[in-house]
Amino acid sequence: MDDVRTRLREVRMNEPLPAAPVPHTNPGRTHGDPDANRTSVGERIRILRAAGVAVVVNVPERGLPEVLHWGRDLGGLDADELEQLRLARARPVSPSALDEPWPLTVLPGEQDGWEGRPGFSAHRARQAQYPQWNIIEAHSTADSLRLISTADGLDLTTTFSLDLAGVLRVDHEVTNASDTSLALAALESVVPVDDRAAEVLDFTGRWTRERVPQHRTLTAGSHVRETRRGRTGHDSPFVTALGTPGFTSSTGELWAVHLAWSGDAVYRYDALPEARTLLGAGPLLRPGEIELAPGESFRTPASVFVWSDRGTDGIGSRLHRSLRARSSHPRRPRPVVLNTWEAVYFHHDLGRLEALADTAAEIGVERFVLDDGWFRGRRDDSAGLGDWSVDPQVWPEGLHPIVRKVRSLGMEFGLWFEPEMVNPDSDLAREHPEWLLQPLGTGVRAWRNQYVLDLSRPEAFEYLLESISAIVGEYRLDYIKWDQNRDLIEAVHDGRANVHRHTEAVYRLLDRLRKRHPDLEIESCASGGARVDLGILDRTDRIWASDTNDPIERLAIQRWTELLLPLELIGSHIGPPVTHTTRRATSLDFRIAVALFGSAGIEWDVTSCTPDELKVLREGIACYRRLRGLLHSGELVHPDTGDAGTTATAVIAQDRARALVRIARHATGDRALAPTLRVPRLDPAGRYTVAPVPELPVPRGLDDVAPPWLGHGELRLPGLALAEVGLQMPLLAPGEALVLELIREPS
Ligand code: DGJ
Repeated sequence: MDDVRTRLREVRMNEPLPAAPVPHTNPGRTHGDPDANRTSVGERIRILRAAGVAVVVNVPERGLPEVLHWGRDLGGLDADELEQLRLARARPVSPSALDEPWPLTVLPGEQDGWEGRPGFSAHRARQAQYPQWNIIEAHSTADSLRLISTADGLDLTTTFSLDLAGVLRVDHEVTNASDTSLALAALESVVPVDDRAAEVLDFTGRWTRERVPQHRTLTAGSHVRETRRGRTGHDSPFVTALGTPGFTSSTGELWAVHLAWSGDAVYRYDALPEARTLLGAGPLLRPGEIELAPGESFRTPASVFVWSDRGTDGIGSRLHRSLRARSSHPRRPRPVVLNTWEAVYFHHDLGRLEALADTAAEIGVERFVLDDGWFRGRRDDSAGLGDWSVDPQVWPEGLHPIVRKVRSLGMEFGLWFEPEMVNPDSDLAREHPEWLLQPLGTGVRAWRNQYVLDLSRPEAFEYLLESISAIVGEYRLDYIKWDQNRDLIEAVHDGRANVHRHTEAVYRLLDRLRKRHPDLEIESCASGGARVDLGILDRTDRIWASDTNDPIERLAIQRWTELLLPLELIGSHIGPPVTHTTRRATSLDFRIAVALFGSAGIEWDVTSCTPDELKVLREGIACYRRLRGLLHSGELVHPDTGDAGTTATAVIAQDRARALVRIARHATGDRALAPTLRVPRLDPAGRYTVAPVPELPVPRGLDDVAPPWLGHGELRLPGLALAEVGLQMPLLAPGEALVLELIREPS
């Protein structure tokens, strides 16, 4: 034992770690508790604490660490109390089991005694690998813990970091320290959750209906959701949350995980009879995909773990705070976008686009984005992808005339690309058929007439970097919409499965481009919202949530996209009166009210608008421009409405001085009067005036029956009364929304 002790090199708190993904704070320091995170040589139990969350990790003499607690903060426990906690948590032998108690480690496997889905799975020339890990180094700071372990022929680095929002990121890096190659099958991060977790929330979806929630009872067994689409996918599990019975948007305790990754993924929870429930995620690796030669390493993307004691809103609130703390988070006001896609599709014509730009500028648009159709041979979706130069037939002077026009009107200019793809009908495919992820003629199947480029080929990578970079430079692009419109099927490089390396190459390409053009903003789009994850968001500034601009559909899609992302990152556009994807007709007022709560824009041929429509649009845009500071910095909550057909969305300023509440109805219900809406998280003692925002009309409501307070100008109530008693909601018709502004009176 002593030998192991001497090998265990403890490194004290102040030792620098590699750059952390987000800035961290020491909650102990912030809250005047100097002992909160102190660790010392010889202490085997580490505690990370931030924003009301504690993670307690036992670093044992043999084997891998165990998470003893992840959840509510436990205060500043001293070394003795931490030891007692370990004792309190120690697992006895269960009936009909191994004779010795066994630990539930951060990388559980049969070598420990764990018989659920392993965290690590590999073989070496068909030799089974059950590594007997031992920790040889433990590096800790106030908010992170890095543990280096070895086993026969393997090194492992496990990193935990808890950021200022209480969001825990965990990843593993395994290195093949032997002289034979190692075929890796799985490397996943798991953390145990409390036994009270009894329900599961995760997501599915399809094109134009992304992030559909599935809320069900937690049942026994190893439950695995796999994604094998080569991209995040419309039906991504997105976030898997385990919660206490009956949890809602605002109530209940939840433990959630998200994988910061845009390739194939595994989301998992294991509820075995003899162990605590484990929650986790990791990259999905196909057979033979990751084979580590001697000395090679593989590092997982981060699994992002979030605990909440106030329902799903508590998860969102921590994630939003965490994202907003990134140095790369967009700081400039999110401009009003006009995207040309649904306005003109592939029919690029300078005169028509100039007229569109004129009208856009008149109504307050700030960024004009030329979508698909500008490059060589791209007259429809059957040709051109891969040939990233301006089509001389459509644009004889290049894009200069439209760029000049847009800039002369005071707007920014953005352009669409789909870098990862190629049409067989393109010069690129004709010249380099070998650049495809699976070469032509080998049974590869088209999807939207296109194939995928193998970005792990250096020549293909460099070609894309240089050709995109040249256009960004020539036109001084402010913005790129980076699209990706197909799943990867049978993706191979030199005969070997290649989703993982391809995804890493996509990230590298984005990183290189951003480094060259630091002011360039990038939107991530994938057939609408098939690439919404924190991996792509580390290198992009906005996501396109869905290809549907139908506000009824969008209400649901955005409501759950908001579980991960704050409003400023979610592209949300006002479409035409009849939505192209659903053929549903909706009012302009409703479309504006829905787009307002996002990174707003327009996707509509506004040259076809009546003067009245333009007036309403102008007012709506003015409203967004006035309120975006609040919308894009405040805390987002979704008060329970008690009516399945009504969604309430509220944004409360961080200083609680102002708030916005949108009540939107998408379906009728069985009540003759609408229920009461309670607005949480306001300043309980502050008195608020409540009134509809002046720029948007008050909806008529069903049968023209409005609650009396709506006809009385402003309502004045303390925050506590608004939270506990609430407001009588109007009985809205489906397709109507009311946006209220709450302003705290000076005290
Ligand atoms: C799919 C995107 O989601 C749309 O917004 C549009 O950019 C088209 N691709 C263009 O081909």
